[in-house]
Amino acid sequence: MNPTTPPMGWNTWNTFGENIDERLVLESVDKFVELGLKDAGYEYVVIDDCWSLRERDAKTGEIVPDPAKFPRGMKFVADYVHSKGLKFGMYSCAGVRTCADYPGSFEHEFLDARTFARWGVDFLKYDYCDMPFYDKAQFYYRRMGQALRLSGRDILFSACNWGREDVWRWIRSTGAGMYRSTPDIFDSFGSMRSIAISQLPKFDTSAPGCFNDMDMLTVGMFKKGHVAAEKWAGKDVPTFEEYKVQFAAWCVWGAPLMLGCDIRSMDPEILKLVTNRTLLGIDQDRLALQPFVAETVQLDKDEPRVVARLLDGGDMALMFVNFGENEVSGRTHLDKLGLPYDSGMRLSLRDAFTGEVSQSGRDTISYRLAPRSCEVFRATPVVA
Ligand code: GLA
Repeated sequence: MNPTTPPMGWNTWNTFGENIDERLVLESVDKFVELGLKDAGYEYVVIDDCWSLRERDAKTGEIVPDPAKFPRGMKFVADYVHSKGLKFGMYSCAGVRTCADYPGSFEHEFLDARTFARWGVDFLKYDYCDMPFYDKAQFYYRRMGQALRLSGRDILFSACNWGREDVWRWIRSTGAGMYRSTPDIFDSFGSMRSIAISQLPKFDTSAPGCFNDMDMLTVGMFKKGHVAAEKWAGKDVPTFEEYKVQFAAWCVWGAPLMLGCDIRSMDPEILKLVTNRTLLGIDQDRLALQPFVAETVQLDKDEPRVVARLLDGGDMALMFVNFGENEVSGRTHLDKLGLPYDSGMRLSLRDAFTGEVSQSGRDTISYRLAPRSCEVFRATPVVA
């Protein structure tokens, strides 16, 4: 079954890179449940690149889990994940080698899909490094899509070719349930901002069945871990306010929510943020409608100021965002949200972060935003 709302979970890559092993995964699974992430809707525990030996088994041709990292093999890990009521994800690559130079699935798609099915894998992230040809993504992703469908197990296909080759035009034909529509994220405000803004022209390409994946969240990394390295992410440690902007954008945009921080030592404020019911309710809204930019501003280039999405039952999500470096304030007309003066409506606004309820004006809403900050509301139209 392809997903009808954006998949949610945790992935090893952002923090741990190649430093992964059974203990880390099992401890994270325990914490996952203990912290209430499962109750909040997070479901997939995904092991990214670097889990296997450098070469396939000479006799069987199968990829072999590195016994130094996963001494009891992957079926054991999968069983453990399942015993906690969660789902298990793994990683491979359409190319000859993965991005970190482990065996990829090129010309081994069907064998690997059967192996993953045998281990009890529920989700496969499928990368795009080391391809013999870089203009045939559609062809290679279709191979693995078929292999997974025919593997005898329901495995969510998570394609990851970084938004190349107009992937949104064909990815649904491969059976994928989500696909990366962006380059890799790093743990900096700049990286998050450029990913969020890059998705505005692609709002029409994400829908139930197959969601645009804006990459794993860096929320809560606070500069610790693999994608926080200074060479990619610069020196600045992201602030809590910046992570709020990131998490809220992923939710209002309707993206998959794959946590990427070390959940074993998650900051309590970050836990509150990523389990925020109002934001998760927006991300997971049953209708999964297309968001829209109600107002843009000219900063470096056109940037969104107000982004909205109609929700199931008549409410709407409303995000006021300031990606810039100066405080801003202003007013937005309700007409830009489809509510002209004549509608006789105004909005009752529930602040997603504080729970406070306020009323919009009769025809406008005012905002004041610090640099790199946002306000998010679940808004209910009410008779004015
Ligand atoms: C690519 C992907 C990342 C991660 C690494 C692993 O860069 O986009 O998300 O999976 O490969 O090597």
